[in-house]
Amino acid sequence: MDSAEIRRRWLDFFVKRGHAEIPSASLIAADPTLLLVNAGMVPFKPYFLGQETPPAPRATSVQKCVRTLDIDEVGKTTRHGSFFQMCGNFSFGDYFKEGAITYAWELMTNSVEEGGYGLDGDRFWPTVYLDDDEAYGIWHDKIGIPAERIQRLGMAENFWSMGVPGPCGPCSELNYDRGPEYGEAGGPAVNGERYLEIWNLVFMQYERGAGTGKADFPILGDLPSKNIDTGLGLERLATILQGVDNLYEIDTSRAIMDKAAQLTGVVYGKDHKSDVALRVITDHVRAATMLIGDGVVPGNEGRGYVLRRMMRRAIRNMRLLGAHHPTVHDLVASAVDAMGPQYPELVSDYKRIDAVAVGEEESFLQTLKTGTNIFDTAVSATKGEGRKQLAAADAFQLHDTFGFPIDLTLEMAAEQGLSVDEDGFRRLMSEQKARAKADAKAKKTGHSDLSAYRELYDASGAPEFTGYGETTSEGTVRGLLRGGSVASEAGAGEEIELVLDRTPFYAEGGGQLADHGLIRLGNGALVEVLDVQKPVGDLIVHRAVVRDGEVVIGQPAEAVVDVTRRHAISRAHTATHMVHRAFRQLLGETATQAGSENAPGRFRFDFAHPQAVPQSVLADAEQLVNAVLIDDLAVTAQVMSQPEAKSMGAMALFGEKYGDRVRVVSVGDWAHELCGGTHVPNTGRLGLVKLLHESSIGAGVRRVEALVGADAYGFLAREHVLLAQVSELVKARPDELPERIAGIVGKLRDAEKEIAALKAGQVLAVAGELAGNPLDVHGVAFVAHRAPDGTSADDLRKLAFDVRGRLGSRPAVVALAAAANGRPLVLVATNETAREHGLKAGALAKIAAQTLGGGGGGKDDVAQGGGTDVGALDAALEAVRLQVAAAGPA
Ligand code: SER
Repeated sequence: MDSAEIRRRWLDFFVKRGHAEIPSASLIAADPTLLLVNAGMVPFKPYFLGQETPPAPRATSVQKCVRTLDIDEVGKTTRHGSFFQMCGNFSFGDYFKEGAITYAWELMTNSVEEGGYGLDGDRFWPTVYLDDDEAYGIWHDKIGIPAERIQRLGMAENFWSMGVPGPCGPCSELNYDRGPEYGEAGGPAVNGERYLEIWNLVFMQYERGAGTGKADFPILGDLPSKNIDTGLGLERLATILQGVDNLYEIDTSRAIMDKAAQLTGVVYGKDHKSDVALRVITDHVRAATMLIGDGVVPGNEGRGYVLRRMMRRAIRNMRLLGAHHPTVHDLVASAVDAMGPQYPELVSDYKRIDAVAVGEEESFLQTLKTGTNIFDTAVSATKGEGRKQLAAADAFQLHDTFGFPIDLTLEMAAEQGLSVDEDGFRRLMSEQKARAKADAKAKKTGHSDLSAYRELYDASGAPEFTGYGETTSEGTVRGLLRGGSVASEAGAGEEIELVLDRTPFYAEGGGQLADHGLIRLGNGALVEVLDVQKPVGDLIVHRAVVRDGEVVIGQPAEAVVDVTRRHAISRAHTATHMVHRAFRQLLGETATQAGSENAPGRFRFDFAHPQAVPQSVLADAEQLVNAVLIDDLAVTAQVMSQPEAKSMGAMALFGEKYGDRVRVVSVGDWAHELCGGTHVPNTGRLGLVKLLHESSIGAGVRRVEALVGADAYGFLAREHVLLAQVSELVKARPDELPERIAGIVGKLRDAEKEIAALKAGQVLAVAGELAGNPLDVHGVAFVAHRAPDGTSADDLRKLAFDVRGRLGSRPAVVALAAAANGRPLVLVATNETAREHGLKAGALAKIAAQTLGGGGGGKDDVAQGGGTDVGALDAALEAVRLQVAAAGPA
C-alpha cells in the first residue's frame, strides 16, 4: 500500500466517524515555544488548553513534522527520520480512552476491503502507563488482548508531553511485532527494533509546568476537559505495509535514495557504512525540501540552522560516497517528485525550492574547498604531536573563519579517529558572543560596561512608555549617567544619559529609529535628546546634551518628542508593513521579513526570496501599496493572545522574543503584523510610497529601499524636472525620449567610428614617406617618428608594421612615439635581420620607457613602453637610436 493510500485511508476512516478533516499546518510552528512543528497535535494546543474553542469536537489530520533531537541516529536505526508525517485523531472533550483504543484497533485490524489496514491483531503489543488500569482494562477486557502482551511502562515511555509547559497525559502505544528476524522476543519493553512503535494514543488530561527531561516537571492541574491526541507515524506504518526493512526504503524515500545511489555509483545494501550515508542523504534531502517548501531559508540560527545542518550533512555524505560535483538539484527534484502527489505546492513552488537548495550547496562547496585544507593541516599537526583531540582553537577557527559548523568538524574529525575539544570550543564561542554583544552595545550606548544601566534598571524598573498615545509627557528624572557612570547632577554642555519614569520617546528597536526631541526640567534646565536606546531589558535611556541649566535627579520633567521626525518615521513604518504584505501577496507567503530600517521619510525592507524580484513585480507592489493608501484604511493596534493574533492571520516572527500577549498592528483588514512600533492613524497619511531599487544582501535575502511622503514626492518631482530638461535638450516630447536618445546614441557611435578610421588613415598615410627616408645607423635602417597626439597604441602598431614591411630585408628598426590622454607611449618594431644582430624590440622599448620615467617590454619583434613624462618623448626616441648605434651590425 503506497503512502498516499495510507494517508487517504486514515482520513476517510476518521471522517466517517465524525471527525473534521484539518489540513496539515506549516512546519514553521505558530507556537513561540517551538522552532518547528514536531507532533500532529501542535496546531491544536490552544484547544487542549481551553484557550480557544475548537472548530469541531473531533478532528483528524496528517501533519508534517520535523524532529532533530535524534539527528545522529538518522540512518543508523530503522526508525528515526527527521521529517515524518504524523497521522492523528483528536477529541476535544468528546470521546476518551475507550473511544481512542477502539478506533485504533478497528483501523489497524479491519480488512483492507472494509477500509482498514488489514494487519494481524495477534502481532500487536500495547503498552500502558504504570497505573493506568482503565486503559489496561480496555485492551484486555474489551479488545481481548492476552495479559502477557500488554506491558506497563513508566514516564519515559508512556507519559507524553511536548517537552515544554503545556498539555500532557499518560499514553498507550501500539507496537507491532516484526518477527524474530528483528531480534529477541519479550515485547516493546525489551526490544524497540522488533516491536516497532507505530501509534501513540495520548490521554491528554493534565497541564504541566517547566522542567527537564521526560519525567522531571510538575503537573500544574487538570485541563478544562479530557482529550485525546493520537499520533501514528505514517512512514513506520508504510515500512510494515510495504514489507521493507526501514523507513528509508518506503516509496516516498526510496526514489531519493535511488537517485543518490545513481549519482554516486554506490549500490545500496552492499556495505553498512555506505548504507548509513545513503539513508542520511535520503532523510535529510526530504526534510530539507519540505522545510524550504514551507519558507525556511538556510541560516546560522534557529530553523535556518536546522535546515543548513541537514543540507550540509546530506552534501557531505554525497561527497563521502564519491560525488564531487553538485548534486542537490537532482536530489531535490527526486524529493519533489516523491512528495509532490501529497503536497502539490512543492510542485508549483519547485523553482524557488530548487534555487534556495542549490544556492546553499554552492556556498557550502565553497566553504568546504577553503576549510578542508585548514582542517587537514590541523589534523596532521594534531596527529604529528601524538594528540588524539583536535584543539578548541582549531575548531573555533574553522567555524569563525571558514563557516564550518561544529557538527561538521566533529564528523570530519571522527573520520580521522580524532575527538574535538568541544567544551573548549563552546567556551571560545561564548567568549566571542559576549565580546560581540559588548561591542554592539558599546556602539549604541557609548559604553561597553552595562553594569551602570543594570544598576539603574534594578533600582527603578522599566519606565512607562507613553509614546503610542502622546508625544509630550510629564514625568520625573529617575536616573542619570555621565561618562558611563551613575551621577546625581550634570551641567550645561555635558553629554548625559537620562532615565525618566514615563517617556513618550521611542527607543530604537524593531527596525524603527529612535525619536529625537527636548526634555525640560522643573528647575528650567533644557536637555536635547539625540538618541534613545534600550541597553538592558526595557530600560529606556535618552542620550542627550544639556543645553541649559542643571539636570538633577528627582526633578519633574516634560518630555517633548520632535513630532516632525516621529511622523516621518511612523509613515515609513506603516509603509514597511504595507510593502511586506504586498510582496507576500505577489511573491508568495514565504517572502517574509528578514529585517528593516524605518527612518524619517525612507525605509529599507529585507525579505526572504531566492532570486531578484523582476521590475514588473516591483512596479505591481508599488501600485498595490499606493492603491491601498488611497483607500485611507485605518491603522490600529490591539494587544491580544498569540492564538488570537494567529487566527487574524497576523504576520509574525512567532517564537522569537514575543511574550504571551502580543501587539498586533493592522492596516484595515488587509495587513496584520506583530509590531511594537509607532504608526500613522490612516494610510492616507503616507501620501505616496516610491520603491527605489532592489538588490541582494545575502543568500536568499533581498532588500528594497523606498521613500515615503514628501521624500517620495520630492524624488518624483526631481525626476520630472530632469526629464523636462532632457526633453528640452534633445527637442523631443518625454514619450519620444527613448527613441530619440537611442537614435542620438547610434549616430554618435557611427560618427566616432568614422573619426577613428579617418585618424588611422592619417597616421598610416605617412608610412611611405617614413620608409623612404630611413636613417642609416651603423648599417641599420632606423626610422624614428613622433605621431600626432591622441594616436592610439593600435594605430602606432599598424604604422610600425607598415613601415617595417616597406624597409625590406635589411636590418630595420622602427621607433614611434605619441602622447595619448596626457601619457607618453613609445612603440618599437624590429625585423628578423635586425633581431639576428641582437636588436630586440623588448629591450629597446625598455630603454625608451626608462627615459619616460616608466616601464615597458614585450616580444622581440614588437614592444611598447610608457611612462609619465610626455616632454621626454623625443629623448626616448633618441635613446633608442643610441642603443641601435651601440649594438648595430656595422
Ligand atoms: N502527541 C503524541 C506524539 O507526538 C501523539 O500524537 O507522539
